[in-house]
Amino acid sequence: MYIRHHRSDDLYPMAIIMAACDLRDPLAMIYRRSSLNNTNNTNTSTNNTNVYDPKRAARIWTDHVKSTKRSIELKVLQPGCICQVIVLDPEDHDTATLQDGVTDPRTTNPKITDPRVINTRDVVGFAIFKRCGVSSRALGWQAEGRRLPTRVRSFVVHSSLEVSRSWDSSISISRLAQYIQRLYTAPPRAALGIPDERWDIEAIYVLPHHQRRGFGTTLLRWVIDRAVEEGVQMCVWSTEAGRALYLNAGFTEVGTIDFTDMREGNDGGQGMVRIMTWRLPN
Ligand SMILES: CC(C)(COP(=O)(O)OP(=O)(O)OC[C@H]1O[C@@H](n2cnc3c(N)ncnc32)[C@H](O)[C@@H]1OP(=O)(O)O)[C@@H](O)C(=O)NCCC(=O)NCCS
Repeated sequence: MYIRHHRSDDLYPMAIIMAACDLRDPLAMIYRRSSLNNTNNTNTSTNNTNVYDPKRAARIWTDHVKSTKRSIELKVLQPGCICQVIVLDPEDHDTATLQDGVTDPRTTNPKITDPRVINTRDVVGFAIFKRCGVSSRALGWQAEGRRLPTRVRSFVVHSSLEVSRSWDSSISISRLAQYIQRLYTAPPRAALGIPDERWDIEAIYVLPHHQRRGFGTTLLRWVIDRAVEEGVQMCVWSTEAGRALYLNAGFTEVGTIDFTDMREGNDGGQGMVRIMTWRLPN
């Protein structure tokens, strides 16, 4: 296993990884109509028969991966955003079989093959980090994104796709709007003592089948090394799933964003985002 900068052909595997994680994430379920397991609900209510409908699951999955891919593409275009992927060595090469009806729309017509096989080739995880600040180091990272005119073109293409194509059918737009509004009410970073000059962890995702094998920690190590080299802090808004990863790496919690009142139905999950920071050891 090794880590490298992402390439454009990693975007599809990355979208699959993020999509697969999101459909299990209790926070993401706040603004979704359904997980892949739910078949008949049009809202987050409890009238869920849990009967697996392969056609519906395939449609949800296809929309979800497409919109996830667009959001990742937009994210990595932002100045200062650096994306690293975890790649398995040939001897580790693996195909992950998910348990709940996940379809990889890239490979198959789900009507004629087993839709529950998902193959992200050898990419099993990724992270997006963002260098904030105005120091020469920060400007150096931020300039990376400005060198490539193709990124600008891609930005324009995907911005227009965002409005012209159908939205992810598993998302309730009104609940997503409420969710985003709640994020805006988060305590300002300055009030939490978080400096402008820092690395932000925007995302770390590992394919569910490959979690708890140290891949998340390996991705995190890349940004810790940068923070140590540059003598700056790190900040993350962590899900419950990520909390242990960051605590193990020496992060401390400095605030929370509470979503517990927005949860409903049977998501069974936690409702807090933890604002966590990491400082250089003395
Ligand atoms: C959070 C996430 C990235 C962690 O990835 P991961 O690859 O499972 O992380 P690691 O394997 O490095 O560490 C996770 C746990 O596995 C343990 N672990 C690490 N290597 C291990 C191994 N070889 N065998 C068994 N356990 C191991 C770690 O000690 C840690 O245990 P703990 O949680 O009890 O402390 C992953 O769960 C994920 O993608 N979640 C969904 C997306 C998400 O919420 N991301 C966080 C956004 S802020």
